[in-house]
Amino acid sequence: MTHTMQAVNRGPVLVRTRSITKSYRRGPEEIHALVDVGLSVARGELIALVGPSGSGKTTLLNVLAGWEEPDAGELLWEEQVIPSARTLRWSEMAIVPQSLGLMEDLTLWENVELPVRLGTAPGAAARVDELIGSLGLAAIAARLPGETSLGEQQRAAVARALVGSPKLLLADEPTAHQDALWSRRVLETLTEAVASGAACIVASHHRETVEYCNRVAGIRDGQVRDVDELSSLVLKEEH
Ligand SMILES: Nc1ncnc2c1ncn2[C@@H]1O[C@H](COP(=O)(O)OP(=O)(O)O)[C@@H](O)[C@H]1O
Ligand SMILES: [Mg+2]
Repeated sequence: MTHTMQAVNRGPVLVRTRSITKSYRRGPEEIHALVDVGLSVARGELIALVGPSGSGKTTLLNVLAGWEEPDAGELLWEEQVIPSARTLRWSEMAIVPQSLGLMEDLTLWENVELPVRLGTAPGAAARVDELIGSLGLAAIAARLPGETSLGEQQRAAVARALVGSPKLLLADEPTAHQDALWSRRVLETLTEAVASGAACIVASHHRETVEYCNRVAGIRDGQVRDVDELSSLVLKEEH
């Protein structure tokens, strides 16, 4: 394949990890989910985080989101060490979790609007309908998540993440439940966010997703490295 990954002029570094390590203990077994991870992400970068199942993608995104504490290492936000990303607002850092994390008792519209209501995405009310529309959810926005498909729920989670125009967007396999058409729409939506100055990390192993990105980081057994040669990665064709 001809690969169209484009070099970008990197903007200022937004988030940086220094030697992040995270292990899980399962009985006598110790699982090294992240090993000495050093990754810096600049504004304007759309980074694919590519690795096989179990390689540590979700753990890394969850540590960056402040949902999990690393055992060791530092997290820097705008080059300042921060104790945890938990202190960041939704307008600074937002996540599309692999498990989606929608509130089951709220409609799709209310889920997308939640960061506005909670005050973590001030001034974003107008973005709710815009994102609901562009992600094809307008006709079903009044339904509860349980009354919609997994693909629709996932697009609602993408809309909820973007409603506050976050500086950093963490998207964990955001096209996993999408068909080819909606995968493209989701990726275009992420690309638009990056074009307006956000940084985005997308965990994925779909070829099409990777081709939208301007940088690829490979992860294997919890170790992250930048990848120049895509043929070294195992990528699935989209659906
Ligand atoms: N809460 C947990 N307890 C124990 N092991 C876990 C936990 N979460 C993840 N792991 C293990 O850590 C490794 C990395 O998992 P994960 O980050 O989910 O990988 P990926 O997202 O790339 O599939 C896997 O071996 C997984 O089984
Ligand atoms: Mg995962």
